[in-house]
Amino acid sequence: MDWGYKNRLSRIIRPQTGRTVMLAVDHGYFLGPTHRLEDVYTTVEPLLDQADALMLTRGILRSSIPAETATPIVLRVSGGSSIIGEDLSNETIMTSMEEAVRLNVAAVALSIFVGSDYEAQTLENLAILVDMAQEYGIPVLAVTAVGKELEKRDSRFLALSCRIAAEFGAGFVKTYYCDDFEKVVESCPVPVVIAGGPKLETELDAFKMAHDAIRMGAVGVDMGRNIWQNDHPMGMIKGIRAVVHENASPEEAYEIFASYKVS
Ligand code: 5RP
Repeated sequence: MDWGYKNRLSRIIRPQTGRTVMLAVDHGYFLGPTHRLEDVYTTVEPLLDQADALMLTRGILRSSIPAETATPIVLRVSGGSSIIGEDLSNETIMTSMEEAVRLNVAAVALSIFVGSDYEAQTLENLAILVDMAQEYGIPVLAVTAVGKELEKRDSRFLALSCRIAAEFGAGFVKTYYCDDFEKVVESCPVPVVIAGGPKLETELDAFKMAHDAIRMGAVGVDMGRNIWQNDHPMGMIKGIRAVVHENASPEEAYEIFASYKVS
């Protein structure tokens, strides 16, 4: 592995624990002004120091994140469809590698839609992005997207998607937690992080999901709504950090969360 590539990846997946807490705020790229991300700066700035990496688009990076931040950036470079369009899977690469270098990113991220009408197109996007990113020593995060079909999130589908992402050269993969999650991780030769998905009913549910994913081999989370849609986002990210980096139990994480609730 080239030095630059290794250095970038180790800024995201912390060598001290081999794990990562990424904060995902790229939702607007197809959802527009998502609840609590209407004003990204106000929501994200207080959490920046708590994130091992921040995932977002170049527009929001330039407009809403101070350039002085030390938090590594994972730049979402795929897009092209919106929630009101025909098919979320019809994505292409929207940002050049020169732009990613200009923005000093630690990695670039792109979605693949396995099993969709645009499966081949999104896999070709991944292959092209990996070729482009390798030139500059930039790791690629492949996101195993499901579009509007959240029910697709089972271990058979996600193992297939993660493995295909790795086969096409992704440096790490973002997927969903599911039953038999160990099957997803076991057959994926590159590190796996989980998305949080829509906000869960309770905070404890989110801590349990992160805990189970780590126990079954994930290297961390790339979580959004379950952190910043909570009324106490600092408590959420602190609790998640304890689960990911300190092997805290879900109940211990909840105690950390609760201490931020009262303050
Ligand atoms: C969308 C994404 C989001 O970043 C991802 O879903 C993470 O956010 P959340 O935890 O809110 O699901 O990649 O394709």
